[in-house]
Amino acid sequence: MTETIRAKLREILDDAGKKLDSAGDLDALNSIRVNILGKKGRLTEVLKGMKDVAPEDRPAVGQMVNEARASFEKILEERKNAFEKKALEAKLAHEVIDVTLPANSNAMGHSHPNTIALEEVERIFIGMGYEVVEGPEIEYDEYNFEKLNIPANHPAKDEQDTFYINKEIVLRTQTSPCQAREMEKGKLPIRMLAPGRVFRSDEVDATHSPSFHQIEGLVVDKNITFADLKGTLEQFARELFGPNTKTKFRPHHFPFTEPSAEMDVSCFKCGGKGCRFCKGEGWIEILGCGMVHPHVFEMCGIDPDEYKGFAFGVGLERIALLKYEIDDMRLLYENDIRFLSQF
Ligand code: DAH
Repeated sequence: MTETIRAKLREILDDAGKKLDSAGDLDALNSIRVNILGKKGRLTEVLKGMKDVAPEDRPAVGQMVNEARASFEKILEERKNAFEKKALEAKLAHEVIDVTLPANSNAMGHSHPNTIALEEVERIFIGMGYEVVEGPEIEYDEYNFEKLNIPANHPAKDEQDTFYINKEIVLRTQTSPCQAREMEKGKLPIRMLAPGRVFRSDEVDATHSPSFHQIEGLVVDKNITFADLKGTLEQFARELFGPNTKTKFRPHHFPFTEPSAEMDVSCFKCGGKGCRFCKGEGWIEILGCGMVHPHVFEMCGIDPDEYKGFAFGVGLERIALLKYEIDDMRLLYENDIRFLSQF
């Protein structure tokens, strides 16, 4: 009896061994396990047959069956481990990262030349204690013109070809109305910078656009003189275009300032000798400025005997074009990524 069982166990184990050897994956291993150790498995059957074994043989037979089971489980476990190891190796080989490959670059946006130029101008004036404010792009004729000493029928009104929304409302032609709005608030002294978009019904060409940007500056305090204006704007020019930049103030006329001037800077390309960039002049005009007109003070509720002030207006595109040596303003609006990504 014992011998028959021993032979049977050997046969089961041999057979299982062969099957395990040829099993191709974890699923196959599992069905072999069920075939041997499952409820109706071949070893389980042998165990069930223990009741027919003579009592004195049972311990020996029991030990044999247990050994057979242990040896089957051992082989099964080894095969399972081998499969898992192979699967892991395959996965690692598949997911291998070559750290020497160049990284994928992400397309990143960056600031527009106008924005870079504006931030530069703001940085300079904020450093001098100015506050940045904003006014509306759709503006009352009253603020865009009247309060700036440009009454109806004033020729300056025609010069700035205005987009009218109706008789009283315009698209602002300049950032100067921000001066009037700031003064009317009545909080003195004032040191403000007001950047923003302005509109004029101009044809598009290399130096004109119906929509462009200006930066307005205004200082109001007691005892402000033209020397303050000059000192401030000279400092601004040196910070923006380099420490060797020279400045020149030419008399000019703006209705809201008296006296008024335009400021030129020495050409930063040729240092003033004259070149293609400054059209042989040696100088480049960059802004309009002047002392706030007493009449403007009065219209904005400030006593011109007590307070004085200066104002200036800079074309933002002009600064960007000069700083980056761009010769056509249209390039700033076309949003061609090949152009913009150079800055
Ligand atoms: N608003 C003027 C323009 O658009 C520029 C300007 C000139 C502004 C003189 C000023 C200034 O504040 O003082 O042409």
